[in-house]
Amino acid sequence: MTTPRKLHIKSYGCQMNVYDAQRMVDTLAGEGFVETASADDADLVILNTCHIREKASEKVYSELGRLRVAKEEAARHGREMKIAVAGCVAQAEGEEIVHRAPTVDIVVGPQSYHHLPELLKRAKANGRALETEFPVEDKFGFLPQPKPAAIRARGISAFVTVQEGCDKFCTFCVVPYTRGAEVSRPVADIIDDVMQLTENGVRELTLIGQNVNAYHGDGPDGRPWSLGKLLQRLAEIPDVKRLRYSTSHPRDVDDDLIAAHRDLAELMPFVHLPVQSGSDRILAAMNRKHTADDYRRVIDRFRAVRQDIAFSSDFIVGFPGETAEEFSATLALVTQIGYAAAYSFKYSPRPGTPAAEMRETVSATEMDERLGRLQDLIDSQQSAFNRAAIGTTVDVLFERAARNPGQIVGRTAYLQPAHVMASPDIIGKILPVRIDSLERYSLKGELATRSAPSPISSPVSQTIGA
Ligand code: 5AD
Ligand code: SF4
Repeated sequence: MTTPRKLHIKSYGCQMNVYDAQRMVDTLAGEGFVETASADDADLVILNTCHIREKASEKVYSELGRLRVAKEEAARHGREMKIAVAGCVAQAEGEEIVHRAPTVDIVVGPQSYHHLPELLKRAKANGRALETEFPVEDKFGFLPQPKPAAIRARGISAFVTVQEGCDKFCTFCVVPYTRGAEVSRPVADIIDDVMQLTENGVRELTLIGQNVNAYHGDGPDGRPWSLGKLLQRLAEIPDVKRLRYSTSHPRDVDDDLIAAHRDLAELMPFVHLPVQSGSDRILAAMNRKHTADDYRRVIDRFRAVRQDIAFSSDFIVGFPGETAEEFSATLALVTQIGYAAAYSFKYSPRPGTPAAEMRETVSATEMDERLGRLQDLIDSQQSAFNRAAIGTTVDVLFERAARNPGQIVGRTAYLQPAHVMASPDIIGKILPVRIDSLERYSLKGELATRSAPSPISSPVSQTIGA
């Protein structure tokens, strides 16, 4: 028997990268690789990179500096370490990486992960290997591989990619260039994956895609299915206890999706719906294809069918030419909607995007000031949302033992971590928890029923808010 080779993957950025990393582990398991927690003793290190903002991109080169030292150290001990750069920086700057970082052996774009074993062989034969083309027709070629039998259980909650790429071309965003055109997986393939995952103990699925509600995969009836219809079908699978999806575009919220929120108890009432700005002029300059009022109406449609629904969002401050009044419109929108959580970013020009050519930049101090004000507002909404849970009884899906001995941690419908003292046999179950305190972002409480024979679904007694 040969000794297994060690693989270390470091992922940056979005949930799609987390998912892709698992796929790479599965693909390379077939080549005798096992995962290791440390880069230093790995035979292959993969940096799974993010190109969305400048800061995210820069991390690659500083990490490569550290890895060069680890690689030299390994070589001194007669051990060969291969270094691969994957993800969106690989896609966008593949050639540059090859020139700038001689320590890198393999550069692989997100559409080519199924070729990793071959790229490793190529790198061994030629010294280095680069693959960043868009093989459009087999974009999802890597997904059915390894065959479903090889999908490994990974806890209680798992991601499943249902679509990839984006055709929206927001002027600030690199995704349409790094992840390519929007493509949806067939319904049957997704069902196969979900069946396999639930057989392995998974109870919560988050369907992911860069523009997930643009989903239009081929259905078993030969017609394209919407995301709402797909969710309805997946909810019929017996062990699917919770469903989520991310990330959505306001323009692609259709009646099927609203109906799914109305009809499916499994579909969690927590929706990530980025708006980016509250100003119509900025939204137009961003090519978002919706106004602030369009967004408010979409929120109202969700709220009309699920009173307990909550929202999170993404915001960009300091988009080129954003005035103080236009920024105030963003604050006004946040105040009006009331978010359970939100992410906010300073605008970062990305090479190759239309916004990077726009000249009217906002000063760094102005950006910092706006970001601070927006984050303060969001933080106060998030704290109020979390505090509102105290004294209520909420459903928690238990996921794992917590760091403190005897504690088990799970998540509420709104993804808030919730801790209870209980036996580990509650892992995988949804149980009502009486919340009695809040520590930073984490809820603490007691099981409301100690000996529930099976997962119970009790109504959430809380009301709040690509
Ligand atoms: N600058 C700042 N933030 C950006 N995002 C995407 N591109 C940029 C950029 N160039 C943010 C958006 C998006 C989230 C994933 O990242 O808010 O929704
Ligand atoms: Fe980027 Fe989202 Fe706009 Fe697509 S919809 S271009 S992923 S910000």
